[in-house]
Amino acid sequence: MPLVNMKPLLRHAMDNHYAVAAFNLVDYSSTKAMVKAAEELNAPVICQTSSKTIKYFSHKEIVSWVRTVAEDSPVPVVLHLDHCHDFDMIEECAKSGWTSIMIDASEFPFEENLARSKKVRDIAERYGVGMEAELGQIMGVEDDMVVDEADSVLTDPEDAKRFCDALDLSAFACAVGTAHGFYKGEPVVDFERIAAINALTRTPMALHGGTGLSDETFAMAIARGAAKINISTNLKHVFVQSFVDYHTANPKDYEPLRVLDAQYQAIKTMFHGFIEKFGGTGQGAKFLQSQREMA
Ligand code: 13P
Repeated sequence: MPLVNMKPLLRHAMDNHYAVAAFNLVDYSSTKAMVKAAEELNAPVICQTSSKTIKYFSHKEIVSWVRTVAEDSPVPVVLHLDHCHDFDMIEECAKSGWTSIMIDASEFPFEENLARSKKVRDIAERYGVGMEAELGQIMGVEDDMVVDEADSVLTDPEDAKRFCDALDLSAFACAVGTAHGFYKGEPVVDFERIAAINALTRTPMALHGGTGLSDETFAMAIARGAAKINISTNLKHVFVQSFVDYHTANPKDYEPLRVLDAQYQAIKTMFHGFIEKFGGTGQGAKFLQSQREMA
């Protein structure tokens, strides 16, 4: 089916207490694995791209991969742009076929962040796509953005309300104690803050830094309003490690398709695990039915 807009999908997720898995694709095979995993579980899925990945390939290549696998699939698939501060890149994505875009102006003071995010809201409205914006600073490294622990700022619920009221977001990214990359110690997630932010904003929350969080943390965050959970680092590691493992176990096998298949299967299994943990199983058909009833 054609790619879907992120906004109604995440509303459905928030209202029905599950989260849509958002995986940062790295190539065609990982894109196909995420959509196939979603299909096998009848779940919606978000294929998201970092700016770095778009620069390495191109808008045209990425949109063609995602459309190709989504068109042959009965489950709802979103193509989303992850953290981006470049307005040209954001507009090019909206124009090229992404169905959701993210502005990350979180390094700026509140008013400047809001002004930049409003500019992107206008782009999202012009192209009819979903939108995510961030307030507070999430720890860790994502693409070319580095936030040290000392510089990270947790999101204030009252500020979150002002921000969300002004933007009508599909997803709200906020800092609640999670971090991009592997956790150095035990993550301290502020569940009270998640609940307070959601009570005031009533906006589906995007939980960043999903790699390394426990099943219990996922469940508690989802129960408090997390409707999109981002996974990137875990995919990067399984992507490389599965390749290495296959070669270590089969040092004489130089048939690329067998190596690629081993990698594909390992990645798909990992995606399955996250989709199930986030409660996405069976929600693909339910979301589509809810859209038909609303039409
Ligand atoms: P991880 O790399 O920790 O999984 O976080 C991904 C993310 O939040 C992308 O925006």
